Amino acid sequence: MSVLLNDYLQQQQQIHDLPPNLTATLLSISEACLQINQAVRLGALDNILGSARTGNIQGEEQKKLDVISNQILINTLCAQSAVAGLASEEEDTFVSANSNGQYLVLFDPLDGSSNIDVNISIGTIFSVLPKPVGELTTASFLQSGRQQLASGYVLYGPQTILVLTVKHGIAMFTLNKNNQFQLTQENTQIPVQTAEFAINMSNQRHWQAPMQEYIAELLAGKTGTRGKDYNMRWVASMVAEVHRILIRGGIFTYPQDQRDPSKPGKLRLMYEANPMSLLIEQAGGVATNTRENILDIQPDQLHQRVAVVLGSKAEVDYITAKHQNY
Ligand code: AHG
Ligand code: MN
Ligand code: MN
Repeated sequence: MSVLLNDYLQQQQQIHDLPPNLTATLLSISEACLQINQAVRLGALDNILGSARTGNIQGEEQKKLDVISNQILINTLCAQSAVAGLASEEEDTFVSANSNGQYLVLFDPLDGSSNIDVNISIGTIFSVLPKPVGELTTASFLQSGRQQLASGYVLYGPQTILVLTVKHGIAMFTLNKNNQFQLTQENTQIPVQTAEFAINMSNQRHWQAPMQEYIAELLAGKTGTRGKDYNMRWVASMVAEVHRILIRGGIFTYPQDQRDPSKPGKLRLMYEANPMSLLIEQAGGVATNTRENILDIQPDQLHQRVAVVLGSKAEVDYITAKHQNY
């Protein structure tokens, strides 16, 4: 018998005594993603490709689909009474939703924007935090990744797949013919060892010494100190890279580089690194910024950036150890 997202969440709610409002919040997020999926699938037919000719607070060009996806999530989540506030890659500051809400939802509405126009996998990433008591301010959102109650992503790829955790392992759902998320994999565990890595090699000259040394070891393959050949992948959509790692292991890194000391990496902590790190940890992997576990970082800004190394435990531990004395 097929298990739909709603059934799964009801089960989790009963087994782990989760608040019903958390389930309702996650269902609202999934509904928004169904709408985004609809737009993604139609592409040029729905006039959603190309640039919106605007920029976000991070100085990045916004694609039409970035703006559309952001608005779908905001509209859907503001209509969910359990949601108190929102933070998005595409919004300068937080958005107030419902004064009696108990949750904060943080999201990257469309991850992998550079892939939209060329029909390569993209996704939506989300994180749910408890709303602290009192007035909603930016400080309400500045909680470490450990405080997350749930996180996940939707991958708009050859299949549309929702992956989520309510901190009792991860579950994967495939969008079925009736446009419903149907459970297709549960309690996925990432292999501890791997021979596959993902990094944007074009930035090599900017990396710090330990990362230079590490990647050189992998490229040396069987003849080098690691004693085995490695394979490389770079999709340029974090959602697609994390999905590959959950399915078959590997490591993904977007390291800090020497270009701009004020930017410790490219990816954003609150709505990219934290939700993905929680999924990775729930699947037996690890995520660090080369020094500490990403989930332990105390944020000081909504849009702060962070270096990311995540995936198969043995490999992440190896990279982290290499950076120890740097
Ligand atoms: P976004 O589209 O939300 O700005 O995020 C893109 C991120 C991430 O998904 C990906 O791993 C990385 O940027 C790609 O970077 P390069 O352009 O350097 O390949
Ligand atoms: Mn992104
Ligand atoms: Mn994005």
